[in-house]
Amino acid sequence: MKAFARVFQGTAFTARSPKEIEILKDYLFCLNEQGVIARAIAPDAADYASLRDAYAGTAQYHRLAPGQYLLPGFVDLHVHAPQWAQSGTALDIPLYDWLHTYTFPLESKFADPDFAAEVYEDLVSALLANGTTTALYFATIHKESSLLLAEICARKGQRGLVGKVVMDDPAQNPDYYRDADAASALADTEAFIVAVKALAKTAKQGVYPVVTPRFIPSCTDEVLKGLGELAAKHDTHVQSHCSESDWAHGHVLARTGKRDASALRDFGLLGDKSVMAHCNFLDEDDAALFAETGTAIGHCPISNAYFAGSVIPIARWIDKGVEVGLGSDVSGGYSPSLYDNARQAVISSRMLEDGVDPSLPADARGVPASRITIDEAFYLATAGGGEALSLPIGRLAEGYAWDAQIVDIALAGARLPVFGEGEPLHEIFQKIMYLVRPENIREVWVQGERVHARA
Ligand code: GUN
Ligand code: FE
Repeated sequence: MKAFARVFQGTAFTARSPKEIEILKDYLFCLNEQGVIARAIAPDAADYASLRDAYAGTAQYHRLAPGQYLLPGFVDLHVHAPQWAQSGTALDIPLYDWLHTYTFPLESKFADPDFAAEVYEDLVSALLANGTTTALYFATIHKESSLLLAEICARKGQRGLVGKVVMDDPAQNPDYYRDADAASALADTEAFIVAVKALAKTAKQGVYPVVTPRFIPSCTDEVLKGLGELAAKHDTHVQSHCSESDWAHGHVLARTGKRDASALRDFGLLGDKSVMAHCNFLDEDDAALFAETGTAIGHCPISNAYFAGSVIPIARWIDKGVEVGLGSDVSGGYSPSLYDNARQAVISSRMLEDGVDPSLPADARGVPASRITIDEAFYLATAGGGEALSLPIGRLAEGYAWDAQIVDIALAGARLPVFGEGEPLHEIFQKIMYLVRPENIREVWVQGERVHARA
């Protein structure tokens, strides 16, 4: 009887801090039965060779091939699961019009569980194939098909955090797609929470219910207050959109007399397990409120380029101590890949720093100290996401879940441009972050179980 369920030998990249990566060269990662990293052992440790030799050649031992590297699985803090069906389309009009013209008609079709199953099965597989091991999902207003999404995550082995969307205000939502009233929205949400908590008992990696008011503009005060109470009663995660665009931010201010962040706080919706998408129009006080309550920003850089009308000063909020992770915002963001979103996070931050209007002098064009590096974007996609959700995920370190991707940079037909011997591992890491395609992601593991493999 061996002490560990599995042992992996290979070189890994993991975040040391929001700014720095750590390179674990030729480590042994020893997993327990729960799929947690019990030990991460460096080659100079006293028992490295004896442990490796004890496991080598057994079915529990996994040695990475030359050209293969380990990264933590990615944590996507913002996915609209039904919108997968329109990804890559319908990005031509402003947020309000986009919701009413394309998105609400699409989401209303998820009343049909067969349609929902077809889309959700495909999405969860696509996210896993892109290295996303944990996803924080908005489903739709429909309790049954939202539960179906949680069941699909449970079965496919993804760590899904799923919300039945609430949108009950008759003045803001079409009759064909809204909760009938506040009371039924709250009753459905509570039934959904109870059902997902029961389902979680069958999923090793965990599935979680999430209290999900779409955003303040779509919800009545009564429902927002009730949702805050439900989140406290059942100790759930909370998600919504906050200060995303001029229109969304201005609408909340006009209706409540408060800025979005304060209004969400007053409804009981900010806390350590809260994640707010976008947050482009936060001010210093809002950011302080986020830091104080432990509320995280789900940064969605691709989507923001289409709908937010601005670049969020993400470096400033990270420096201020706000928790930040990365979100795809499928389908406001067209890509299901957090690699693509990490790349865009860097690019957008560079454009904010340098500015974009060439008719202005260079020193008046941008916002100084706004850029983030690809290492920082990697932190957001991994450890930052784990901290946002207050879960032990996003790092390849002792005590963390074995959520990992094995990336092959030497794959025939999808080789990364690494030539000769001895390229520094930090450069290889950067090439992985910028150039990896789904073909390079050979295996994906969640909580010690393999959930995706390419032949
Ligand atoms: N605000 C309210 N709903 C949505 C949505 O579905 N996507 C985005 N990007 N913003 C929203
Ligand atoms: Fe969104």
